[in-house]
Amino acid sequence: MNLNIRPDVVIIQDAIINTRRDLHQHPELGFREFRTAKLVADKLTALGLEVQTEIGRTGVVGLLEGRGFGPTIALRADMDALPMQETGNPPYKSMNPGVMHACGHDGHTAMLLGAAEVLTGIKDRIHGKIKFVFQPAEEGQGGARVMIEEGVLEDVDEIYGIHLWNYQKFGTIGVKSGPILASADIINIVIEGTGGHGAAPQGTVDAIVVAAQLINILQTIVSRNTNPLESTVVTIGKIQGGSNFNIIADKVVLNGTTRAYTEENRQLIKTRLQEIVDGVAATHKAEIKLKYFEGYPPTVNNAELTQKVMTAAEKIVGTGAGLPFLSMGGEDFSYYAQKIPGCFFFVGSAPESEEPGSVPHHCSHFDIEEQALLVGCSVYVQLIEDLLIK
Ligand code: NI
Repeated sequence: MNLNIRPDVVIIQDAIINTRRDLHQHPELGFREFRTAKLVADKLTALGLEVQTEIGRTGVVGLLEGRGFGPTIALRADMDALPMQETGNPPYKSMNPGVMHACGHDGHTAMLLGAAEVLTGIKDRIHGKIKFVFQPAEEGQGGARVMIEEGVLEDVDEIYGIHLWNYQKFGTIGVKSGPILASADIINIVIEGTGGHGAAPQGTVDAIVVAAQLINILQTIVSRNTNPLESTVVTIGKIQGGSNFNIIADKVVLNGTTRAYTEENRQLIKTRLQEIVDGVAATHKAEIKLKYFEGYPPTVNNAELTQKVMTAAEKIVGTGAGLPFLSMGGEDFSYYAQKIPGCFFFVGSAPESEEPGSVPHHCSHFDIEEQALLVGCSVYVQLIEDLLIK
């Protein structure tokens, strides 16, 4: 491994790691990041930045003005935790029962605070402005969209964001132009048939048989309708129906999710879902209602910005350590990148003793290789130095 953690980041490494541990011990759910927001605002204020609070309810923005004229670059971290009980036993274990930083957003916040500190120290050399965006509620509630509505992107030319990534080895960066994370939509299907005695199916419409056929046919959307060179997913994750072994069920409810990298595929899946639902309903004389909820759109990286991230990242992790990592997960960073050029990238954080992916995000014993915080912070600082210091 050929790591070049920046010396100006090494100087504050204890502060970065301690901030992450403090946040890990005090996780807060989306739009309720009150303590976290205060900690962030206090640190930004102590650095002498112009600080705005309560943007998008619990969001915080710090503005660093350089000495000379230049573009405004936004760096974004999300701050929210997840509703789950931590089962690991690190010395910085969550003290908030049923709430846990199981996705690494504590690290995102700590890295960005570290970058704010280092960049404040060299602000006399910066031509332009830096907006440090601390966003609430990434986990499903779309905090990014609320912050955009409240004007966080006004006058911003480019935006960058990091996700720590346990599916990648420590010491690597994952970035790629174009789509890197998928749309994440939710489907709800209610099948209504006609129940009856398990021994007398004549005259009934068995909602379980209808559900079984429907689930199988839905799998043909990905296997038969979309281009195999373009990734898509249709998952039915929950099925509920029936009451006893000898009763023909009159109702089944299915819940699932769909993923796509392009708006075209997203709409194709949506259209085919409805067509298949209608077809199966007609075939069986059942009534089937489909509700389709659009979640986060695909996250699409700007090509030029991606190149800038790769250039900065190579100075920190060396050439060849950049991987074109893709995931069918969803991210509300996508909303920023729909409005202005954006680039979202991954910083490998798999604990060194483990295989990448063996401590997955959203698992109850989630933890990261903390040295990855120094990698991410170094890439942020390097990126700004490349972009705004002439
Ligand atoms: Ni996350």
